[in-house]
Amino acid sequence: MDILHYQKEFLSYLESKKWVREPKNLYEPIDYILQLGGKRIRPVLTLMAADIFSGDFKKALPAALAVEVFHNFTLIHDDIMDAAPLRRGQKTVHEKWNINTGILSGDAMLILAYQYFENYDADVFQKLAKLFSKTALEVCDGQQLDVDFETRTDVTIAQYVNMICLKTSVLVAAALKMGAIVAKTSEENANLIYDFGLNLGLAFQLQDDFLDTFGDPKTFGKQVGGDIIENKKTYLYLKALEVANENDGGKLKYLYRKKLKENTIKIADVRRIFERNDIPSLIKQEIERYTEKAFETLTKMDIKDADKERLKSFGLWLMKRTV
Ligand code: IPE
Ligand code: IPE
Ligand code: MG
Ligand code: MG
Ligand code: MG
Repeated sequence: MDILHYQKEFLSYLESKKWVREPKNLYEPIDYILQLGGKRIRPVLTLMAADIFSGDFKKALPAALAVEVFHNFTLIHDDIMDAAPLRRGQKTVHEKWNINTGILSGDAMLILAYQYFENYDADVFQKLAKLFSKTALEVCDGQQLDVDFETRTDVTIAQYVNMICLKTSVLVAAALKMGAIVAKTSEENANLIYDFGLNLGLAFQLQDDFLDTFGDPKTFGKQVGGDIIENKKTYLYLKALEVANENDGGKLKYLYRKKLKENTIKIADVRRIFERNDIPSLIKQEIERYTEKAFETLTKMDIKDADKERLKSFGLWLMKRTV
């Protein structure tokens, strides 16, 4: 089955749930963000893993929904932390309502996510909840580091990779492993699919960083240049400091020293520095390297070759995405 099929099955399960109840100001933002769309990458991975390891993806639907609800909760809070105006081409929750609403609706979503595990028997429930708690805490660690890095001038590429592993990769990896847990496959397969997800997640976040600066504003759905406005120490920035001459390096550091009200010139200047230092092609190479690393894990996995190919084509699809 292909990605679109899992997406469709997931969406009809999502739509079968009623999100809005009283008090409306708590639940309407939840409904809003969940209906805004998005690629549904994580739930698709949960369903695909369950299908590959057991031939039955339907029993993974509650776990897939838990992952997507959790992901959308992190987006609401992330958009507050990043002062982001746009999400999936629409206003962010804190812009449409306010920051307090974003905080509490987000909190409620975290609890709702956990409730979906109640659909599983004790053994599976415990494994899912344990993985989920570990993952959620790691995402918090990553998000805090991401914010800490904004005002630090000594961030290394290794520290950046650790940060994106925590804020992004662990959830991609956990989404896959949850499918494996529901399918009751071997411990070894579950750990290998988790490793596959970790490397795929790194490639995915690098691509996200690339698109944040070089994406097409008409289709990207988020504010292009948002990472530059917020002085995010992304791979683009860190690699540029590594390869640029003193002049460009100095300019870049100067531009990332403070936050501004008006950012048009800053964004254009930073983009030019990245371009003349060949950063777009250097980040592309890095994305390919992590995708390849993910594919290597597949060779060790005890599944059909055709299923390895499906996971591979998912990875290749992710690499080429523009949203
Ligand atoms: C955005 O995730 C947050 C990151 C970890 C980069 P997605 O790019 O999966 O967002 P949606 O769900 O498709 O909108
Ligand atoms: C988001 O990283 C990671 C989480 C939401 C946990 P970003 O801040 O880069 O995500 P976007 O670009 O806003 O989607
Ligand atoms: Mg953000
Ligand atoms: Mg962020
Ligand atoms: Mg981003």
